[in-house]
Amino acid sequence: MRRTPALRALIRETDLAPRHLVAPLFVKEGVAEPLPIASMPGQSQHTLESLRKEASEIASTGVLAFMLFGVPERKDAEGSQAWNPNGIAQRALRVLREELGDDHVVIADLCLDEYTDHGHCGVLDEHDQVDNDATLERYRRIATAQAEAGAHLVGPSGMMDGQVAAIREGLDTAGYTDTVIMAYAAKFASGFYGPFREAVSSSLSGDRRTYQQDAGNAREALHEVRLDIDEGADIVMVKPAMSYLDVVRAASDISPVPVAAYQVSGEFSMISAAAANGWIDLRTVALETLTSIRRAGADFVLTYWAVDVAEWLA
Ligand code: PBG
Repeated sequence: MRRTPALRALIRETDLAPRHLVAPLFVKEGVAEPLPIASMPGQSQHTLESLRKEASEIASTGVLAFMLFGVPERKDAEGSQAWNPNGIAQRALRVLREELGDDHVVIADLCLDEYTDHGHCGVLDEHDQVDNDATLERYRRIATAQAEAGAHLVGPSGMMDGQVAAIREGLDTAGYTDTVIMAYAAKFASGFYGPFREAVSSSLSGDRRTYQQDAGNAREALHEVRLDIDEGADIVMVKPAMSYLDVVRAASDISPVPVAAYQVSGEFSMISAAAANGWIDLRTVALETLTSIRRAGADFVLTYWAVDVAEWLA
């Protein structure tokens, strides 16, 4: 049954195509040239110009969707640039929609951590603890600004309780009834986000363990997934991917809505570094990891290899 490539292709249970991949992109305010991210080989903090070019190149390979992260020049305690209609993320969303129209899917990461001077995903109370409900009010504003700028999907990634319901209500009230919510539903407090902190010039000291999930908890992850679906999530996500494939499987078994998984920065950088040393073959391993994530039940995967994989599969 395994003797020829044709026979193997005939019986392959899991397929991987460009349409299963989402390419994350970073845009930075106030830089004249794209800045390479040292810990994520091949990835950059883009200018609006280089973002436009990069997105159109990636789009031509058959990748359908993009996840945008904005890095503002000015951060404050509230993260107010996140909902500024002329803030960097909103300007970049307009550029992407201008370039791609409705032929591709533009997703906006919806969070405060890139915008707050303390680096947390929410605003802080007088004891420097993240204030869940005060944060929801900001998330509603961000969602509306992102929808107004043209995001097809918003992706709340802050793990605040009630964030999906609050955002849905905010979007509907503002008339954005068609804007889709892709919830980072089961997001774990993970060391694998390390390189991402450089990618978004994060100012966080400390960790996010008071709002992101504990690595030991799979049952709780399913509870989070169910809560988000009940609140109106259109797509649910598990993140990171490789160390949480059991959670992807379980979520996919119970979810009536599509399930996404995020192969995060540390997963990408770890394999890229080993490959750069000649210890493993990048292409073989990248394809193997993405196939595994699909096999675990993810309908699609966010990955920094989106464009490479689309080219390999062509
Ligand atoms: C939060 C956010 C993070 C990532 C995506 N959205 C960082 C965090 O929660 O600390 C990580 C993505 C990656 O590591 O590739 N806005």
